[in-house]
Amino acid sequence: MKPINIDMLRSSANAVRERLGDASPSTAAILGSGWGAAIDDWTITDTVAFDQIPMLGAAAVKGHAGAIHLADTGHGTCLVFQGRRHAYGCTSWAPVIFPAFLAHAMGAQALLLTNAAGGIRDDLQPGDLMVIDDHINAMGDNPLRGPHQPDLGPRFPDLTRLYTPALRNQLDAAATEQSISLKHGVYVAVSGPSYETPAEVRAYTTLGADAVGMSTVPEAILAGALGLNVAGLSCITNRAAATGNDALSHDDVIDVTRAATPAMRALVCAFMQRVAAKPHAGE
Ligand code: HPA
Repeated sequence: MKPINIDMLRSSANAVRERLGDASPSTAAILGSGWGAAIDDWTITDTVAFDQIPMLGAAAVKGHAGAIHLADTGHGTCLVFQGRRHAYGCTSWAPVIFPAFLAHAMGAQALLLTNAAGGIRDDLQPGDLMVIDDHINAMGDNPLRGPHQPDLGPRFPDLTRLYTPALRNQLDAAATEQSISLKHGVYVAVSGPSYETPAEVRAYTTLGADAVGMSTVPEAILAGALGLNVAGLSCITNRAAATGNDALSHDDVIDVTRAATPAMRALVCAFMQRVAAKPHAGE
């Protein structure tokens, strides 16, 4: 993967900011595979399509609308990425980490990352929602590799509390309030686009992973390096390869997220309401 061209990243962020009239969202969210409808209760006040930003391009994966929105949550403004670019579809990290860079540039304090993932731990079954407590980067690369760019944070960012404990507590509180059952676990990110082999899933089990997916970790790393408070949610859409009997398909992933949409929607709204009330929580 090519290191990031910082000038291109900056100019793309400036173009979006100008286009959005220099709005100042307090929070940001990336809606991954099948999470697009989680914001249906919010009012979209402005939209920029991914393909209007040359560096970002089209989202290209089913279940990813490919749009940047400003949304009125009823409790402040949220910068929403409906869809994401994945490392497996890119030759540079820039489109993958652009949402975290833009969220920081626009002054957001907290970033919610969502994705679809395969359940590794026995109790993580299709339809479950899981708070990401920590991650294992098995992508074989890091978005901060290359000559140090101070605009991307320190040379050696500390990831000890990457998934901000205060935000994880807020997710639990929001879930309790909405009577949604919420699990917790460690997310292992692989580069994809192939799903894992059974032997790989057994290896990730040994390493301490609870769920596996192809995203989120690059954005989380940059967001943490830039000092944003980070929260992560996975929708478990299937059992990972060694642990289930069925062949894996992206269509099944999307079907399961559709069934989980009411819970996603209630959880994301209740969480953002809580975060808006305490935008600096975690500091
Ligand atoms: N593996 C990797 N990525 C995924 C999976 C999986 O089983 N399910 C949804 N995204």
